[in-house]
Amino acid sequence: MINVLFVCLGNICRSPTAELVFKKLVDDAGLSDRFSIDSCGSSDEEEGNPIYPPALRVLNAHGIDGAHRARQITYADAERADYIAVMDERNRSDVLRRVGYSFRDKVFKLGDFDGEPHDIFDPWFTRNFERAYDEIYRGCKGLLDYINRNRTA
Ligand code: 4NP
Repeated sequence: MINVLFVCLGNICRSPTAELVFKKLVDDAGLSDRFSIDSCGSSDEEEGNPIYPPALRVLNAHGIDGAHRARQITYADAERADYIAVMDERNRSDVLRRVGYSFRDKVFKLGDFDGEPHDIFDPWFTRNFERAYDEIYRGCKGLLDYINRNRTA
């Protein structure tokens, strides 16, 4: 089983979007039984909350839906994960500070799988949910290609 964990700040916009997009890509590739896919936040600010409605609307417009409750990353999450995909540099340092720097080799920035490496800026602040979706979609495709290239079974 390959365990992929997506992490953003609040776990209500970017990381649940990435979780649902990645699940769809994995489903479409017929690989669902090989993957465990989840998302969480570096902070507990949105604990228990659903996907932020503007982010959910963009997902729905792309034919994707799913239930979600925000939660904060734990040490056990980091231990279980094979790939921890974060959204930006602050996110990377927040996650490593919380779970420990020993996990740094499994932390990747999702935007690094989208051509030129880049941060996926927070649509909570930019209000550009469509752009965030596009960047997340391309990052998820690139991440799945990367995992498939490194997969032994
Ligand atoms: P996310 O977006 O990290 O993509 O889930 C945010 C959602 C809420 C807040 C910040 C970012 N907030 O400050 O409440």
